[in-house]
Amino acid sequence: MVKDQIIAIFTIMIDIHHKHPLKDLNSFSLDTRASSYAKPENLQALCEVLAYPDHKEMPLLVLGEGSNILFREDFDGLVLQPGMKGIEVVEEKGNELVVKVGASENWDSWVAHAIEKGWYGLENLSLIPGSVGSAPVQNIGAYGVELKDRFEWVEAWDLHEKQLVRLDHKACAFGYRSSIFKGEEKGRYIITHVAFRLNSKPDLQLDYGMVKKEFTKAKGSTPQDLRKVIIAIRSAKLPDPEQYGNAGSFFKNPLVDRTIFSCIRVEYPDVPFYPDAGNQMKIPAAWLIEKSGWKGKRIGNVGTWPSQPLVLVNYDGATGQEIYDFSQKILEDVDRIFGVILEREVNVI
Ligand code: EPU
Repeated sequence: MVKDQIIAIFTIMIDIHHKHPLKDLNSFSLDTRASSYAKPENLQALCEVLAYPDHKEMPLLVLGEGSNILFREDFDGLVLQPGMKGIEVVEEKGNELVVKVGASENWDSWVAHAIEKGWYGLENLSLIPGSVGSAPVQNIGAYGVELKDRFEWVEAWDLHEKQLVRLDHKACAFGYRSSIFKGEEKGRYIITHVAFRLNSKPDLQLDYGMVKKEFTKAKGSTPQDLRKVIIAIRSAKLPDPEQYGNAGSFFKNPLVDRTIFSCIRVEYPDVPFYPDAGNQMKIPAAWLIEKSGWKGKRIGNVGTWPSQPLVLVNYDGATGQEIYDFSQKILEDVDRIFGVILEREVNVI
């Protein structure tokens, strides 16, 4: 009786969906379901969702826009999408300003908005799919800029301490496609807002790969021009998830020991590489995959994208397990041929 009353009170205040379809909530368009789903738009609603009796013992999955996830099966638990919106300047000093953004804002719309307002620094991160709240989790990066370069702090609900906390740059321990949110503190925090340190004076980053060449070719001079060039480079190389289900880079670029790298180089003198801090070399996973014979390869409904084999594509109606099995075959071949074990960048459920 008492339990029923409690549930009745909760259901009036929050919107919880059972057996909720996830097809539109993951960029691979996988047809799976979550036992329970909610999108709280503020902290109070978030706490109510978490306190809902059925949710207390359930596994929890915090989802942004589902652009970096592979569902192999239904999720037997609560899928929670933070629904916090809003863009607010919280600090301004000279040319610098700090802007606080709600976790649920779309990443690329936020980048477009910032450039329009004259808040610069995120141009190279244009057109990356996903939400603002997910961006720090894997420290998104592209064309020579990473989120950490413009990051100020996050606000997050701490599930251990049951309180709202603010974590600064150091606390987040950012690395290449990594942070505490997917490392040692995985599952502890629900990010509600992210703050960025931007600049009203343009500081164009043109040093990565073909960016400068394309920028010059387009007679670019402004941050708006740089955004356009980045969008053109990405669109030419990467599949549009609206058309072909995908989650961007499926694997990380591996860091290998210099001695292993030297062995690879003896056999493949043309191996591309980027020296990393310490005793390691970063080798492009796309190159390893291409040399292993997987570029543009397709099995059934799953394939590698012909112009960027680091991206796995759901051509039509593949299951998460099929995509996973396909990725496993790539992983095994790269290991057999090069002795390098690739790590999946996507979150496998
Ligand atoms: N390469 C090949 N064959 C190919 C494509 C690329 O050998 O078909 C080699 C080339 O040597 C090339 C190198 O891979 O120079 C790097 O390729 P690219 O510049 O496309 O970058 P990437 O390392 O494959 C990374 C990020 C992308 C990001 C781009 C641009 C990772 C895992 N991926 O890809 O991020 O857009 O750099 O900065 O670090 C994502 O994370 O989802 C993502 C798309």
